[in-house]
Amino acid sequence: MFTSNHGGNIREAAALAGVDPAQLIDFSANINPLGMPATLRRAIVEHLDAAQRYPDPEYLALHQALAKHLNVPTSWLMAGNGETELIFQLLAHLAPRHALLLTPGFAEYRRALSRVGCRITDYPLTEADGWQPDSRLLAALTPDLDCLVLCTPNNPTGLMPDRGLMKAIVSRCAELNIALVIDEAFIDFMPDAAGCAGWLAEHPQLWILRSLTKFYAIPGLRLGYVINSDASRVAALRASREPWTINAFAALAGEIVLDDAAYQQATFQWLETERPWLWQSLNELPDLTLWPGEANYLFFRYDGEEDLQRRLLAQQILIRSCANYPGLDKRYFRVAVKSRSDNEALIAALTAISRDTNRGA
Ligand SMILES: Cc1ncc(COP(=O)(O)O)c(C=O)c1O
Repeated sequence: MFTSNHGGNIREAAALAGVDPAQLIDFSANINPLGMPATLRRAIVEHLDAAQRYPDPEYLALHQALAKHLNVPTSWLMAGNGETELIFQLLAHLAPRHALLLTPGFAEYRRALSRVGCRITDYPLTEADGWQPDSRLLAALTPDLDCLVLCTPNNPTGLMPDRGLMKAIVSRCAELNIALVIDEAFIDFMPDAAGCAGWLAEHPQLWILRSLTKFYAIPGLRLGYVINSDASRVAALRASREPWTINAFAALAGEIVLDDAAYQQATFQWLETERPWLWQSLNELPDLTLWPGEANYLFFRYDGEEDLQRRLLAQQILIRSCANYPGLDKRYFRVAVKSRSDNEALIAALTAISRDTNRGA
C-alpha cells in the first residue's frame, strides 16, 4: 500500500485515509510513547545556539557519554546519524563478499549489502520453528561466508534467540573469521537482557549496532552507535566517514539522555504494564495468532477475511503490514505497544472489525 519499506509513513497513510497526519494513531513505528525526555527538551531549548556552530568532528563528549554508559573505552565506539547510517557505513567498510541474512528481518541490511555488491544467502526462519533460529543455523555458517547479520530482538517478531545459541554463533563466527553484525536497536527496552556486548572484548569480529531513536523517542533527531573491540578497525571506520553527519542536537541528546534514570524507569514501568495488556487483549480476538515478542512491539498473523490495514486506516489507525518482508505475506502484521488509551483504541477498532465480519458470515 505504501512506497516506503518501513513503518512510520504517516504522510502517505494520512493521505489514503483522507485525514491530517496528526489525527492518525501510528502503531507502525516502534517509538516510546512517553515522548522525548523532558531533560532533553530543556537542554535543546537552552542550547539552540549550537545550531550556529559546526559540531565537534570527533564528537568527543558524545563518545565519552556513550563509553561511560556502556563501560567500554571510547576507542571502541562510533556514533552515527541514527543506526541506519551505521548499518550502511559499517557494511560498506567491511565490504563482505558473501553474507547470510535471516528472513524475515529488517530491510536495510539487504540494501546496504547489495550496495557493496555482496552476494546474499537467505536463511529462512519459519513459523513451524516459532520464527526462531536453532542449531541448524550453526551448520549453515560455512567457510565461504564472511558476514552474518542478526537482529536481537528481531524485527518484526520481537523474539530473542536462545542465549546459548547466540554464544555458539559468536564462537563459530570467530572460528571461521565471519564478521558478525548484531543489531540491538530495541534491546534497551529489555532491562533484563544481557545482549552481546559482554562478548566484545574477546571477539574482535563482533560488531554491535544500537539505536537511541526508539527508546528515547527521537526518530526525527536520530542517533545510534556501533561498538567493536578492535580500536584500530573502529579508527579506520571513523576515518572513512563523512564529517558532521550527527547534528548538534542529536549529539547533545546522547550526552543527556543516558543519565536520565527516571525516564528509563518510567519506560520500563510502562512497558511492563502495557505489553502484557496489549498481548492479552489481542490474543482474545478471533482470527489472530500472536508470538511472545519481548520488545516494544508485537507480531501477529491474521486469518480473517478483511484487509486489516485498510480497515484500521479508515478508523485513523495505522499498523505495519509485514507483507513486504521476505518470508512473510499479507497475513502478518506488527503493532507497537503504545499508551493505554491508544492501545484501547486499537483493540476497540479490531473488536468492531471482527464483529462486522462475524455478522456478515
Ligand atoms: C531493527 C532495526 N534496526 C535499526 C533501525 C534504524 O534505527 P535508527 O532510527 O536509529 O536509524 C530500525 C528502525 O526501524 C530497526 O527496526
